[in-house]
Order: sequence, then C-alpha cells, then structure tokens
Amino acid sequence: METREFEIRTERLLLRPHRLEDVDDIFEFARDPQWGRYLTTPMPYLREHAVEFVEDRILTSRDLWPAWALVLDGRVVGGIGIEIDVEYATGALGYSIAKEHWGRGLTVEAARAVIDWAFRERGLAKVYAYADARNTPSLRVMEKLGMTREGRLRSHRKLRNERVDDVYYGLLREEWERDDS
Ligand SMILES: CC(C)(COP(=O)(O)OP(=O)(O)OC[C@H]1O[C@@H](n2cnc3c(N)ncnc32)[C@H](O)[C@@H]1OP(=O)(O)O)[C@@H](O)C(=O)NCCC(=O)NCCS
Repeated sequence: METREFEIRTERLLLRPHRLEDVDDIFEFARDPQWGRYLTTPMPYLREHAVEFVEDRILTSRDLWPAWALVLDGRVVGGIGIEIDVEYATGALGYSIAKEHWGRGLTVEAARAVIDWAFRERGLAKVYAYADARNTPSLRVMEKLGMTREGRLRSHRKLRNERVDDVYYGLLREEWERDDS
C-alpha cells in the first residue's frame, strides 16, 4: 500500500506513517514520566529510545502492525496502531498522545478512524484493547469507543518490578456494523 493511501484524515488530525524526522516531536512528549507511567516504555526515556521507536515503526510490517503518527497542526503529538492477528482476524489497538493534549477527545477521534479502517480494510472479526487497570483515561477511551469491558486479568503483567492487573475491552464486527452510520 502506498504511503498516501495509508493516510487517514479525521476532523482535527492527520494519521500518517512515521518518518525519521518525527524523533524530536516524539521525544518531546515521551520524556515526560507521566506519559510513560502505564506504558512498557523505558524510564527515563532518552532520545535514543525515540530513535529506536521510530526505526521500529518504519521497519514493522504494515500488514501485521499498521501504525500511524498523529499529526496536529504539523507536529507529531502521539501515535496509534493496531496489531493484527491474521489467523484469528483480531486486532489489538494501542494509542498514546502528548500530555498537553489530554482530555480533548483526540485519542477517541483517532481510534474511531483506525477501528473503521481495520474493520473495512482488514475484514477483522474483533478489535480489542487493554490497559493497566489504574489507567483510568485509557479505560475511558475504550468505553467512549463503544467497546465492552470483557474482564480484568489479575497480576497479568509486570511493569517496572510491579505486578499489574490488565482490563480488556472488545468490539465485535457486528457491533461495529450496527453503530457505523
Ligand atoms: C490514555 C490517553 C491516550 C487518553 O488520551 P486523550 O486524548 O486524553 O483521551 P480522550 O480525550 O479522547 O478521552 C479521555 C477520557 O478520559 C477522561 N479522563 C482523563 N483523565 C481522567 C482521570 N484521571 N479519571 C477519569 N477520567 C479521566 C477524560 O475526561 C475523557 O473522557 P470524557 O470525554 O468523557 O471527559 C492519554 O492519557 C495518554 O496518552 N496517556 C499516556 C499513554 C497511555 O497510557 N496510553 C494508553 C496505554 S493502554
């Protein structure tokens, strides 16, 4: 798929593939410990981690893990991606946005567009997402996306020497079709 075809425009955002020149914008927000609190990203977050992240995004297969930089007014302010399991036709959604833009509904706006894209272009049967149970804003995003809370997996992961619970949310294809006007 050509880069242009892969772009998605929403009301306020451009979603496009990552580029090497995105490193500084990403480092700027990812270095904030509050941003990385519930993520498995390195802490402290150094510029070299942003370089690794962008290189990784560029090299990762667009078929298996389509991902986009979130561009607002010409700057990269976040990222969103969906890891596809081809055999099971499921996609695991992941997202983040710079702290200065939290609470403006931008993540929900981007996620809606990516979910639509994934069901349409990839014929998925289900999109799901999960977050550290303490990550209230992320759980709220999943709810606002119309996903159903499927369960809390206790002590399911390790995050910086701490055992954490994960909460899973899912959206089935038929639920998306019903709501897609
Ligand atoms: C989780 C995250 C992506 C949400 O992004 P966002 O753009 O602020 O999300 P939205 O504005 O679309 O929606 C957030 C919702 O959570 C609510 N919220 C924010 N902080 C909250 C809190 N502490 N308690 C309860 N609700 C909260 C917001 O009010 C909003 O809901 P509302 O529109 O009903 O008021 C963002 O906080 C982030 O990037 N965090 C760091 C990275 C991360 O944790 N990513 C998720 C990994 S699973």
